[in-house]
Amino acid sequence: MKKVLITGANGQLAFDLIRIFSDGYEVIKAVHDDFDVADKIATENFIKNCAPDIVINTAAYHKIEECELNPERSFAVNAIGAFNVSKAAAAIGAKIIFFSTDYVFDGSKEYFIESDTPNPLNVYSSSKLAGENLTKIANENHYVIRTGWLFGVHQSGKGYNFVGLMLEKAKNGGVIKVVNDQFGSPTYSYDLAVKIKELIDKKAPPGIYHMTNGGFCSWYEFAKKIFELGEIKADIAPVSSQEYPSNIKRPKCSVLKNESLKKQNIEILRPWQEALGAFMLEYNKK
Ligand SMILES: NC(=O)c1ccc[n+]([C@@H]2O[C@H](COP(=O)([O-])OP(=O)(O)OC[C@H]3O[C@@H](n4cnc5c(N)ncnc54)[C@H](OP(=O)(O)O)[C@@H]3O)[C@@H](O)[C@H]2O)c1
Repeated sequence: MKKVLITGANGQLAFDLIRIFSDGYEVIKAVHDDFDVADKIATENFIKNCAPDIVINTAAYHKIEECELNPERSFAVNAIGAFNVSKAAAAIGAKIIFFSTDYVFDGSKEYFIESDTPNPLNVYSSSKLAGENLTKIANENHYVIRTGWLFGVHQSGKGYNFVGLMLEKAKNGGVIKVVNDQFGSPTYSYDLAVKIKELIDKKAPPGIYHMTNGGFCSWYEFAKKIFELGEIKADIAPVSSQEYPSNIKRPKCSVLKNESLKKQNIEILRPWQEALGAFMLEYNKK
């Protein structure tokens, strides 16, 4: 049985990767306490000792506001850390899977395909773009997966994901103001995990793959759908991003077209509304 090592094993996406890969693979979980990806020697030792065939690196520092104030840490984890993991995987002949973000683009177009030129607007996304490049340089057997607006039943290390946050706000009552002029594709971490396994099982060629649920929406439309599917009464108001002044630049539009999947004849992920419905069913069972 092939061995897969999953870093960031306490995280949102790792939760789904672990349950999906447990069917057919031996799964080794590495949490932050096992090794810090920014520590080259610790990373090399851990990966060498457990000798996986595939390394799935979900470890990331992605609190965007903190990253902006702490570029050193941001690059240490998201860029150098990505290099360390990818290189240690290459040294034992293992494949590497690295997760990047829709935010590597600047939002200047309606949607972005894999061959479009990235132009990150903030420290977090700059560090992830560096992580993409370093992952590729260190290991020719790589998949760089760009995704965005992740939601899963196991909440992100960032705290609440957007769905969890909206559900919590609705419980507390009052007007919920949500930005209506930033667009992206909400993505269910379960669907993403299923697609990663398919990519590996089908031996797709190395490269960059955009992977998001189908369609797109604004944060406001996303929130409206959450309340509609959850049959939750909430007082929700659309606002412009100018009403939330921030030092951090975010792309107005970070919709990703999943062209590489189509080229490999791999079915693209279902529409985000359907995925959200499936999430709500699972979330309500918790
Ligand atoms: N969430 C999103 O909306 C989103 C969007 C686009 C791309 N992505 C990317 O998708 C991937 C998974 O995201 P996620 O939402 O599952 O993240 P998550 O829930 O925050 O999980 C990340 C995990 O990485 C661990 N970690 C952080 N720093 C580490 C380090 N230096 N060494 C080892 N482990 C470390 C964290 O552990 P501790 O908490 O103990 O530090 C956490 O368990 C990330 O690469 C992220 O950049 C996420």
